[in-house]
Amino acid sequence: MTAKSVAIVTGASQGIGRATALRLARDFSAIVLVARDKDDLEKAATEVQGIGADPLVCALDLRQPQSAEAIVKGTLERFGRIDALLNIAGAVPQIDLFEMTDAQWEDGMALKLHGARRLTIRAWDALKASHGSVVFISGSAALDPKPGFAAVAATNAAIIALAKAFAEQGIKDGVQVNSVVPGPVMTGRRQSFFEKWAPAHNVTVEEAIEKFPEEAGISRYGRPDEIADLLGYLVSPAAKWMTGSSLRMDGGEIKGI
Ligand SMILES: NC(=O)c1ccc[n+]([C@@H]2O[C@H](COP(=O)([O-])OP(=O)(O)OC[C@H]3O[C@@H](n4cnc5c(N)ncnc54)[C@H](OP(=O)(O)O)[C@@H]3O)[C@@H](O)[C@H]2O)c1
Repeated sequence: MTAKSVAIVTGASQGIGRATALRLARDFSAIVLVARDKDDLEKAATEVQGIGADPLVCALDLRQPQSAEAIVKGTLERFGRIDALLNIAGAVPQIDLFEMTDAQWEDGMALKLHGARRLTIRAWDALKASHGSVVFISGSAALDPKPGFAAVAATNAAIIALAKAFAEQGIKDGVQVNSVVPGPVMTGRRQSFFEKWAPAHNVTVEEAIEKFPEEAGISRYGRPDEIADLLGYLVSPAAKWMTGSSLRMDGGEIKGI
């Protein structure tokens, strides 16, 4: 079967990735959903189908080098093309710089940086053929690094640089590449951060969740669907001339220019 337009979304089982898979199901004829949890992916796939796109579930660990090959091969066998790649999966540990082990650094980088890098390289020929689009998800920690989340900051800064490097090649190859830099978005990842952070600071999880936006200098948390809408725009024909850009969507969290 050849679909008209095909998007691969990583991290599609939860949070921002799941919201993005559902958002893109309105514009693409097929969505490839990638993450580890098959049950959650199947649930998201049912919703994708309900919206009108054909889903393909790839329950794989992106830290494993062979996953990129399996995703691209599976997508091309089923749909014959790749028009957009959304590198969203990420789970970098939020641990103090002086406590974080080499293994924890390597694990965070293995998924968010190298998983995304390998998948983009493996999908590149298909993206060239379709004049397709790639978006990488970074995070506002990249622009305001602190010792409490040094690995998140360093990995997200590396993602912005990686996206720039792909974008430079993409100008020659006809592939559009951008990165998006979200601020605090309420997802399972952020909830579990507060579950660890609150007891260590002698507050309840509810209090920590309520107080954080003010401390971060924002009026509220972002929603996954708000980031998904921006991603939907970036891979739409309207954004085609935008490439090599890094777009913040953070409720005004980053105060510098
Ligand atoms: N939420 C925020 O405030 C925020 C802010 C800035 C940037 N971001 C970035 O946005 C992205 C999504 O964050 P989120 O908050 O939506 O997180 P989330 O709800 O925890 O979702 C993370 C996604 O990544 C997948 N994933 C985790 N480990 C994986 C692995 N080894 N292989 C394949 N997939 C894996 C998860 O699925 P499985 O567990 O099923 O594998 C899940 O679908 C991340 O890159 C994060 O750094 C988030």
